[in-house]
Amino acid sequence: MMSCECLDELCLTLGKGVLISCIAYSIYQLSCHIMEKRTIPKVMIRDKYVLITGCDFGFGESLARLLDSEGVHVFAACLTQKGADSLKKSCSSRLHTLCVDVTNSEQIQQALQDVNKSLPPGQGLWGIVSNAGILGNMGPAEWHNRDDYRKVLEVNTLGMIEVCSAFSRLVAMEQGRIVITASIISRCAVPCMAPYVTSKFAIAGFTEGFRREMNGWGVQVISIQPGAHKTNLIDKDIMRAGCRKVWDRQSQQTKDEYGENYYEKMLQSGIEVAYWTGCSSKQPVVNAYYRGLFSKHPKTVYTVGWDTWYVYLIPTFVLPSVVVDFMCVYILGLKPKGLKQDK
Ligand SMILES: NC(=O)c1ccc[n+]([C@@H]2O[C@H](COP(=O)([O-])OP(=O)(O)OC[C@H]3O[C@@H](n4cnc5c(N)ncnc54)[C@H](OP(=O)(O)O)[C@@H]3O)[C@@H](O)[C@H]2O)c1
Repeated sequence: MMSCECLDELCLTLGKGVLISCIAYSIYQLSCHIMEKRTIPKVMIRDKYVLITGCDFGFGESLARLLDSEGVHVFAACLTQKGADSLKKSCSSRLHTLCVDVTNSEQIQQALQDVNKSLPPGQGLWGIVSNAGILGNMGPAEWHNRDDYRKVLEVNTLGMIEVCSAFSRLVAMEQGRIVITASIISRCAVPCMAPYVTSKFAIAGFTEGFRREMNGWGVQVISIQPGAHKTNLIDKDIMRAGCRKVWDRQSQQTKDEYGENYYEKMLQSGIEVAYWTGCSSKQPVVNAYYRGLFSKHPKTVYTVGWDTWYVYLIPTFVLPSVVVDFMCVYILGLKPKGLKQDK
C-alpha cells in the first residue's frame, strides 16, 4: 500500500506539473496573440497581388476597396458585370475586375488565365480570399429537396474548393495565404438551416485538411468564422421571401403537422435573433480578412463577433447538448404540432 507521504508527494508533483503546463500554455497563447498583431509593413504590402471572390457586395466588396486604398493589387472577382462595373468606378486603376461565378468551372479557368496574364513575369499571388457565398433558404431539413442542398453546396463548398485548388500554385510561388470564409455555424449547427450548415461544416473540414497539405508548400491557410453581420446575406425581406417559398411548396399534411406557429417561430428565431445579436458593421470581418492576409503570424482560425461566443460557442461547448436541444424546442418554440393520425 502507498504511504500517506508518498501520496502527498505524488499530488504535489502532479500539481506542479499542471501549474507549469498552465503557465507554459498561457505564455504560448500570449506570445501568439502579440505576434499576430504585427503586420507586414505597408510598403511591402503594395507589391502584393490578391484575388477575392464575391466582390459585388458585402465583405468581399469592402475588402476589395480597403486593399485597393492601401495600394495592394486586387483581382476582384464579381458575380455580375454590374457589380464589377460599380466597384471599378470607385476604385483605382490598379484594381482589376473579373466576372466569376464560382459554380462555373470554365469561368474559374478563364479567371486563372486572366490573372496569370496580368501578373508580372515570375510573380504569383500573395493571397486568395475565397469569400463568395449564399445562405439558401431556411426550413427544417425535410422541407428541402436535393436541389436546395445542391445549390448552396455548389457555391459555398464546391465553388470555394475549386477556386482554392485552381489558384493554389500561384500562391505557392509567393508562399502566401489562402483565406477561406466558413462561418461560426461551421462549428455550432443551428436548426432550420440545413443546406447552409451542411455547406459550411464541409468547407471547415476541407480547410483543415487543405491547411495541412499547403503547409508543405509554405502556404498558410486561414479559416474565417464570422457570427451574424448585417449584409445582404441576412437581409430580412429576402430571408422571409425564401422561407415563404419553401413553406408554400410543402404538402397540406406537412403544413398541418408542423403548424403555422412553428413557421412563425422559425422566422422569429432565425431572422430576428440573427438581427438582434448580429453586428451592424462589416468592418470586424474585413479586419479579420486583412489580418489573415497580412499579419506576420496569422491565426489559423478567426472567429469574428461577440455573438460567436454567447450565442454559439458557449452554449454549444459548455452546456450539455441535451440542454441546448431542449432550448431549441421549448425556448425557441420549434415544436411541431404533431403527426396526423389519418395518414
Ligand atoms: N453576413 C453574415 O452574417 C455571415 C456570417 C458568416 C459567414 N458569412 C459568409 O461570408 C461570405 C460573404 O458573405 P456576405 O455576408 O458578404 O454576403 P453578401 O453581401 O451576400 O455577399 C456575398 C457575395 O458573393 C456573391 N456570390 C453569390 N453567389 C456567387 C457565385 N455563385 N459566384 C460568385 N459570387 C457569388 C454575391 O453576389 P450577388 O450579391 O450578386 O449575388 C455577393 O457579392 C459568405 O461566404 C458567407 O457565407 C457571412
